[in-house]
Amino acid sequence: MIPLIKHIFVVFFFTYISYAVPPPSSKDAICQDTQLIIQGIFDYYYENNATFHQPYYWWEGGLAFNNIIENAYLCQNDTFDSLIQDALLKKSGKDFNYMPHDQIMVEANDDLGIWGMTLLTAAERNLSVPQNGTLGYKNIPNNWIYMADNVYKQMLHRWNNKTLSQSECGGGLRWQIYPWNNGYSYKNTISNAGMFQMAARLGRYFNDPEYLKQADEIFSWLRDVGFVNLNGNQTTVYDGANLESNCTDITELQWSYNFGMTLGGCAYMYNVTGSDYWFNATQSLWNGTRSRFFNEDRIMYESQCQASNTCNNDERAFKGLLSFMLEYTSFLVPALQSDIMSYMTPSANAAAGSCDGGFDKHSCGLNWFNATNDGYFGLGEQISALGAIQSLLGDSNDDLAKFNKIPQSTIDYLSILLQHKSNNEDTISNKKRDVNLMSKLINLEQQLQVEVLRRTKLEQKVEDLKHQLNSYKRKRNLIQHL
Ligand SMILES: *[C@@H]1O[C@H](CO)[C@@H](O)[C@H](O)[C@H]1NC(C)=O
Ligand SMILES: *[C@@H]1O[C@H](CO)[C@@H](O)[C@H](O)[C@H]1NC(C)=O
Ligand SMILES: *[C@@H]1O[C@H](CO)[C@@H](O)[C@H](O)[C@H]1NC(C)=O
Ligand SMILES: *[C@@H]1O[C@H](CO)[C@@H](O)[C@H](O)[C@H]1NC(C)=O
Ligand SMILES: *[C@@H]1O[C@H](CO)[C@@H](O)[C@H](O)[C@H]1NC(C)=O
Ligand SMILES: *[C@@H]1O[C@H](CO)[C@@H](O)[C@H](O)[C@H]1NC(C)=O
Ligand SMILES: *[C@@H]1O[C@H](CO)[C@@H](O)[C@H](O)[C@H]1NC(C)=O
Ligand SMILES: *[C@@H]1O[C@H](CO)[C@@H](O)[C@H](O)[C@H]1NC(C)=O
Ligand SMILES: *[C@@H]1O[C@H](CO)[C@@H](O)[C@H](O)[C@H]1NC(C)=O
Ligand SMILES: *[C@@H]1O[C@H](CO)[C@@H](O)[C@H](O)[C@H]1NC(C)=O
Ligand SMILES: *[C@@H]1O[C@H](CO)[C@@H](O)[C@H](O)[C@H]1NC(C)=O
Repeated sequence: MIPLIKHIFVVFFFTYISYAVPPPSSKDAICQDTQLIIQGIFDYYYENNATFHQPYYWWEGGLAFNNIIENAYLCQNDTFDSLIQDALLKKSGKDFNYMPHDQIMVEANDDLGIWGMTLLTAAERNLSVPQNGTLGYKNIPNNWIYMADNVYKQMLHRWNNKTLSQSECGGGLRWQIYPWNNGYSYKNTISNAGMFQMAARLGRYFNDPEYLKQADEIFSWLRDVGFVNLNGNQTTVYDGANLESNCTDITELQWSYNFGMTLGGCAYMYNVTGSDYWFNATQSLWNGTRSRFFNEDRIMYESQCQASNTCNNDERAFKGLLSFMLEYTSFLVPALQSDIMSYMTPSANAAAGSCDGGFDKHSCGLNWFNATNDGYFGLGEQISALGAIQSLLGDSNDDLAKFNKIPQSTIDYLSILLQHKSNNEDTISNKKRDVNLMSKLINLEQQLQVEVLRRTKLEQKVEDLKHQLNSYKRKRNLIQHL
């Protein structure tokens, strides 16, 4: 099911691209390409301790695995499943909160946001969890979602701690967790957008308004502080600012992963609430992304550093995150799909063309404009090309897994609440309506508590009956043996 538009671009590029990997014109070709690219990723990987070679930082491993998990799902290829499960487990830390001992001194909130994203993808794509006892781990939660939730709860704890978060800039997470690290007094977009994305996805997964309310709050803060400025094609997403200035000294660098993370969170919020507010936010962020990170041939690039050839190792992977989030946005916000794909198709083709470098003749490059390797190669280049190429398979997805624990009626009320929350127009009648809806919501939540309690009791009864049945069966077997 490759839309026509894809073929048009393939033909267009065919005229001058010499591919070392097959042109991504069909599902088979895309899966063949991406298998080669993933092999390239593993060239940089130490399986024994689940880390990537220096100079790659720990966050980048999270992004690599995110895109590899997505690939295993899209291509229905389980070859690397046990490698992925081991990698995720080895980094899970002793409390399954992704604070592994070998990163404990350097880990920051943005690392957690990225690894949280990866765990959510694992959950939404139904990746199975290794059995208890694997690698000596006991009590492994039976779904990655609970580990994502552990990561999120840590961030939420910091968000709510007045000393750590609320005293300057009107809220927000700091970049760093520990005072001894550079950047402790910097609040940045990626840490907060990472948390926003997690709240939105957890909210969708569990259909739980509590997370959605928190997501709404985080996004409002990102706007209030001036890191995210929604304005159609001119939408900006800045990097962050310092506490000392109460976040007025904004660093106006614009990176594709900040756009991607924020856009992805909004796409989830729109998908759950169906609200105008979230549709507009998603569309503005997409329109801004479209004008800032694609050239006139609709090929993605890291505009902040690519032209000047100054992209560092981190920055060379950012397009991999943007591509992933665009794939999900086109799925979660169907109205944007054809426009997003009309940019991702030429980008994916050009990215595949760039994968003709290195000794193996399939190392991917940094700049895709000429659809041939530009002399760069590395982990970031592999991750970015992987994300862009496989995004073309996004429209054949099944729905992302979820588990509803809250009745639809509660979520409907919440959607209405969020829908009425628009920019500055907090009119009195809106406020009255919000209060009204809020009291209805509280009422419903109370009813829910009663329901949950009743259900828990019933479940307990079922368990008891199961035990009785088992003991009856054991007795019966015993009698039969006699
Ligand atoms: C699955 O992935 C492995 C490893 O990259 C590859 O060797 C194999 O050909 C793939 N299988 C299919 C059916 O594409
Ligand atoms: C991981 O293992 C490799 C190979 O044994 C080693 O060179 C590297 O320093 C280790 N990395 C970490 C973070 O422990
Ligand atoms: C591991 O054991 C714990 C405690 O019995 C259980 O809650 C959990 O679901 C198990 N995990 C897996 C992956 O089976
Ligand atoms: C908030 O963080 C500060 C600094 O780490 C810590 O001393 C304090 O105990 C925390 N407060 C709460 C309520 O956790
Ligand atoms: C600091 O910034 C926040 C958010 O922009 C604002 O609400 C607050 O009033 C500012 N505080 C001071 C002291 O300027
Ligand atoms: C985004 O761009 C499209 C044109 O592609 C336009 O129809 C839409 O109104 C724009 N939305 C915003 C919020 O700027
Ligand atoms: C926004 O960008 C799109 C795509 O480049 C263009 O079609 C549209 O006219 C622009 N809108 C405005 C208001 O400039
Ligand atoms: C969404 O954008 C449309 C068109 O620009 C506007 O009419 C509408 O009021 C916006 N809705 C919200 C909730 O911001
Ligand atoms: C949410 O995403 C699903 C899957 O693409 C789609 O079917 C559904 O229409 C989306 N919801 C909204 C409100 O667009
Ligand atoms: C693309 O090709 C042109 C013409 O050969 C060359 O000048 C330019 O440097 C190339 N750009 C990249 C990114 O490789
Ligand atoms: C995940 O598993 C659930 C329950 O088995 C199923 O309903 C859903 O379709 C699966 N989703 C994906 C993305 O595989």
